[in-house]
Amino acid sequence: MSTGTAPRPSASRRGPRTRDSIAFLREFIRHPGRIGAIAPSGRALAAAMVRGIDFRSVRAVVEFGPGTGVFTRAVLDAMPHDWLDPRQSGRVGNGRGRFIAIEFNTKMAAAVRSQYPEALVVNDDAANVEGICRREGIEPGTVDAIISGLAWTSIPEQPRRRILEATHRVLKPGGEFRTFTYQASMLVRSAWIFRRLLRDTFSEVHVGRVVWANMPPAFVYRCVK
Ligand SMILES: C[S@@+](CC[C@H](N)C(=O)[O-])C[C@H]1O[C@@H](n2cnc3c(N)ncnc32)[C@H](O)[C@@H]1O
Repeated sequence: MSTGTAPRPSASRRGPRTRDSIAFLREFIRHPGRIGAIAPSGRALAAAMVRGIDFRSVRAVVEFGPGTGVFTRAVLDAMPHDWLDPRQSGRVGNGRGRFIAIEFNTKMAAAVRSQYPEALVVNDDAANVEGICRREGIEPGTVDAIISGLAWTSIPEQPRRRILEATHRVLKPGGEFRTFTYQASMLVRSAWIFRRLLRDTFSEVHVGRVVWANMPPAFVYRCVK
């Protein structure tokens, strides 16, 4: 995938707002294992997550775990005005692009759906990505990119493996899986096990530069099928 996407203006969206951070923290207190972070990612990390994806040449993009929608917004900002298929739940756009966000937490799914009506937000488990895509008319093996906000170190090994295997199956050959890890988590063994799992699953795994502006600092894995 190459760079050069025409940016999509978003005058009214100004980064993760205080309200989002409070909502996020509240859900973290309720479901710490599922949420896996006490605050939403920052805009710099969101920009790194979508950098280099040319939306003019892709047809289907999926997001895992949008939370308060930081990466959702980055995807929507990066896509050209006319990229989205208008049949996508009657959303704006006149192109052929499909964008599905899969969020496990019911409250967060509802909040991100109302904040970003252009995205098709599904309240489900990322492990079910194949069925979700099929239901939306996207055949497994044809998805161009998957952007993941999941906190992998807090997901047990079996579900992790299931999600990654399903991810690999839905991506097209050469399709990209983007995910992030906190720099500090590399002190923990499970973060290295996760890196190994990525390398075992994908043909290429590129480790991005640390985004120090994010709190806590994090880096992006760009994995190619
Ligand atoms: C660490 S938060 C990240 C939220 C946001 N993408 C960000 O970077 O700020 C992880 C999100 O993934 C969701 N999540 C956790 N497990 C999931 C799963 N199996 N399928 C879909 N969403 C999941 C959580 O509810 C939470 O909203």
